[in-house]
Amino acid sequence: MSQTSYAQIQEAASYIQSRVSFKPEIGLILGSGLGVLADLVEEAVTIPYHEIPHFPTSTVEGHAGELLVGKIHGRSVALMKGRFHMYEGYGPELTAFPVRVMKAIGIDKLLVTNAAGGINTSYNAGDLMLISDHLNLTGRNPLFGPNDSQLGVRFPDMSEAYSRRLRALAKEVAAEMNFSLQEGVYVGLTGPNYETPAEIRMLRTLGGDAVGMSTVSEVIVASHAGMEVLGISCISNMAAGILDQPLSHDEVMETAEQVKEQFLKLVMTVIPKM
Ligand code: HPA
Repeated sequence: MSQTSYAQIQEAASYIQSRVSFKPEIGLILGSGLGVLADLVEEAVTIPYHEIPHFPTSTVEGHAGELLVGKIHGRSVALMKGRFHMYEGYGPELTAFPVRVMKAIGIDKLLVTNAAGGINTSYNAGDLMLISDHLNLTGRNPLFGPNDSQLGVRFPDMSEAYSRRLRALAKEVAAEMNFSLQEGVYVGLTGPNYETPAEIRMLRTLGGDAVGMSTVSEVIVASHAGMEVLGISCISNMAAGILDQPLSHDEVMETAEQVKEQFLKLVMTVIPKM
């Protein structure tokens, strides 16, 4: 059964529009430790998630749970400070609900970022990876249930889920800045446990370059809605079994902190050109 309806999306969208005097063009969803971009949004109107009709609220401590609508280098953006993960208990449709609301307020470009474990052994913790494609291995899909044709087609094409144009733009910007940028396939799992070394060997065989616990549901819904997506992973750690050390959320947050500046420079230059 469909958990969210067109009417609910419209109600959430109308509420946001009633609070903001301009139309956002670009949606931003930021991963663990990368939320600092929120501080750079100008003329920001801050709307706590709990005020938006039908919006889920974040259960993770330290995740603010606010939508910021404002400007970055003259472009109008809506930024999610705090996202929803399946490991919190949300179904994939709820994790992606904000993407549908973004589309309903007129957004057709989406920048999604996340922290991810590096599966590709040529990667290093601290690398940024442009997402070229994904493997949805969550075992779930946000489009399960009756299809509402006002939201998209029953069988959406995913052959360019991550826009070639926006990837070329990100590569161009990175090259101008002398930043190295990896490019690879993101594997989405539900978590919350990190993977076993055997799972990482399997994911490498399947063609994965990085693994994380977010993004795929959001991007499936964005594709369904015909949005152009740019995805960037921060390789916060090498995945399980590659290095002889355990994984921890502290390491993920520490690495994100270290690459914060480079990440900000990259996205702050990409956003005005999107
Ligand atoms: N696995 C899954 N999710 C992650 C990882 C990881 O190694 N690092 C950051 N998010």
